[in-house]
Parts: sequence; C-alpha cells; structure tokens
Amino acid sequence: MSKDIKESFEKTRIAGSIASKALDEVAKIIQPGITTEKIDDLCYEFINDHGAYSAPLFYRGFPKSCCTSTNHVVCHGIPSDKVLKDGDIINVDVTAYKDNWHGDTSRMFSVGEISIKAKRLIKTTYKSLMKSIEILKDDVPLGDIGSTIQQHVESEGFSVVQDFCGHGIGQKFHEEPSVLHYGKKGSGEKIKAGMIFTIEPMINLGNYETKILNDGWTAVTKDKSLSAQFEHTVGITKDGYEIFTQSKNLDNPKI
Ligand code: MF3
Ligand code: CO
Ligand code: CO
Repeated sequence: MSKDIKESFEKTRIAGSIASKALDEVAKIIQPGITTEKIDDLCYEFINDHGAYSAPLFYRGFPKSCCTSTNHVVCHGIPSDKVLKDGDIINVDVTAYKDNWHGDTSRMFSVGEISIKAKRLIKTTYKSLMKSIEILKDDVPLGDIGSTIQQHVESEGFSVVQDFCGHGIGQKFHEEPSVLHYGKKGSGEKIKAGMIFTIEPMINLGNYETKILNDGWTAVTKDKSLSAQFEHTVGITKDGYEIFTQSKNLDNPKI
C-alpha cells in the first residue's frame, strides 16, 4: 500500500468512526415524542466534541448538520420541530469531516413499534448494502455493486431508487465515481485498490420514483410508499475491503 493510500485510509478511518459513533448516540435518544431537531443537535455536538465538522452543515446551502428522513422521505430530510411518533421509521445520515477527510454513514431507526412491512423493508435494505460490500476487491466492475443490490431488493419485491447514488469520498464530500445501486453485472469501470467511496442504497416499498419537495432538498417517494436507506464508507484493498463506518453490532438493525 502506497504512503498516500495508507494516509487516506487512516484519516477516513478516524472520520468514519466519529460518524458511526454519532449514530450510536442517536440510537439512544430515538423514541416517540422527540423532534428531528434534537437528533440534529446531538449530531452537531457529538461531531464537534470529537474535533470534527459536520460536513452537511451549509453544504450547498443545506441548513443542518445531518439528514433526517422519515417514512416516505427517501433522503435529505431537513431536521425540524417535527415530532417522531410511534411506528415511524427514520434514516439519520451523518458525515464527519476531520483533518481534511470525510466519513459518511447512515442507518435506519425504528420509533416505538413498527409494522412488519417496515421491518422487512429495513432488513432487506441493510442486507442489500452488506451483500454489495462483500463482493468488493481490486478489479471488480462497479456495475457488480448495483446488480447485487438490485437483485436482492427485487427478489424481495421492493424497488431501488435511481435518482441518487453512492459517491467517491475523501478530501471532498462528493467526488467520482458515481456508485449506482442498480445495473448490470460486469458493467462499468473496474474499482481499484486504494479507492474510497460510499454505497448507500435507497429502497422503496412501492415504486422507485422520487420527487423533491419545495424546500429544494427533501426527496420523497412519488407514491408516498415507505423508503429505507443504509450507508457505509468503504475502502478497497487488493483482496477485499475495509468498512470505515462500521460500529460493532450497532449498525445491524435488530428488529
Ligand atoms: N450524506 C449525504 C450523502 O450520503 C449527503 C447529504 S448532502 C446534504 O451523500 F447537503 F443534504 F447534507
Ligand atoms: Co453519501
Ligand atoms: Co450520507
């Protein structure tokens, strides 16, 4: 491993671990009655307390430190005075920027008791992410990631959002390549040892189509069906991969 790659992995490991620990803290406060703003406050403070910045804050005008996407919100939900209620599902997406490097991760949380359908959607989304990570190593075509996710998700009867994708990440928050969550096995450029990118499938219970609300950020399912997402930042090695945002057991939905 070259000196540059070693350094990029080391720094992403630190940023990624702060981001994933922030989500471990979020898990402790999720319950009916709290606002999404409270989640934002926690993320802002936790990330700052660990000597990092919240990359979403003021990113292209985004007003908050994390994204909170509930129920039919696909991604980029803006924390607000909205109160979580029993049966809601919510994705919290955080990105820590530390020492010039980024770590980006998101998880689903359930609020109180959720429906069996919602549980299936969440489990399927998580599994699709992990299955796509397991195939990673030097020389694997980028398209194999999307095809692995799409196959698993569609076999469960759900659909893959096409309007948002994973991304290269490093000293910039979003960079090349775009990592599609659908596609053909064998297609696309080959991933290479040393690359760092996110995989962050958004999976809908109904149709895959999305639209953006008038706030310019909040993406929702067109048919108002539930949507789930998980995200990890990963680094490619010669024989495999490293997940920079994994949190022992806690990022695996126990539902
Ligand atoms: N964290 C999101 C991602 O996974 C991006 C959020 S951009 C923001 O790429 F501006 F909405 F915060
Ligand atoms: Co991302
Ligand atoms: Co993210």
